[in-house]
Amino acid sequence: MPPQSLLLLGGTSAIGLATARRLIARRTRTVWLAGRPSPELDAAAASLRALGAGVRVVPFDALDTDVHAERLGRVFAEGDVDLVLLAFGVLGDQARDESDPAAAVRVAQTNYTGGVSAALVCAGALQAQGHGSLVVLSSVAGERGRRADFIYGSSKAGLDVFAQGLGDALHGTGVHVMVVRPGAVRAARTAGRPEPAPLSTTPEAVAGAIELGLRRRSETVWVPAPLRLVASALRHVPRPLHRRLPVAP
Ligand SMILES: NC(=O)c1ccc[n+]([C@@H]2O[C@H](COP(=O)([O-])OP(=O)(O)OC[C@H]3O[C@@H](n4cnc5c(N)ncnc54)[C@H](OP(=O)(O)O)[C@@H]3O)[C@@H](O)[C@H]2O)c1
Repeated sequence: MPPQSLLLLGGTSAIGLATARRLIARRTRTVWLAGRPSPELDAAAASLRALGAGVRVVPFDALDTDVHAERLGRVFAEGDVDLVLLAFGVLGDQARDESDPAAAVRVAQTNYTGGVSAALVCAGALQAQGHGSLVVLSSVAGERGRRADFIYGSSKAGLDVFAQGLGDALHGTGVHVMVVRPGAVRAARTAGRPEPAPLSTTPEAVAGAIELGLRRRSETVWVPAPLRLVASALRHVPRPLHRRLPVAP
């Protein structure tokens, strides 16, 4: 059954909002947008309200782990949450961040440490209510180290392994954890744009895959689905060859 209530961590995330729109079109009626206060966050809330959902905003900074329990606890104190979507994350700038360790640490702390903290807080609350799903947006970039994005990729690898283990820890409790691994996500196609890269996807397609995965109670979802086979093959390519590949997805 589609969730009635959604907590979106990363309240302006393109994938998160595409998922919220899709779920509101089914039966989701209550949406919490957790994010850093900004006009974009307010606009996101207004856009979902216009679709008929009751939307509330809660201030949330992934880097401010000391207050996660208090901030997110407020949401669960207001009522059950059927779905938590962990969609915050930063890509960083690999070239710059390699020579700026403090910036690299911010990527790691946002994506990994912030994810660990927020996921544990929400997992505890979901367990206490006895049901619900936690969906964690990982990335194909976390599958194998790549020259082009290993700072971001390593943070996603950490988050991915963490979420897999959390899913096992919660198995049998009624709480479902699903890891979603999209390839490169592009905005919806506009007329005149060149053909998209193979195996790239869109926020709307990721949203559709999340909805299907929730229905099936999947533990892992690749978007697009064939990416799973490609990633599986690439995992076994020897490193000297792997680093020369023009596209590792
Ligand atoms: N786009 C892709 O190609 C792609 C591919 C694979 C996986 N993913 C993953 O999928 C997830 C969603 O991607 P997306 O494309 O929807 O992202 P997006 O549109 O770039 O949104 C990123 C979100 O992260 C939030 N965020 C960043 N730093 C934060 C912090 N310190 N505290 C709280 N929120 C913070 C942003 O909030 P602000 O508005 O405050 O900046 C925004 O809501 C991410 O985890 C991303 O790594 C993306």
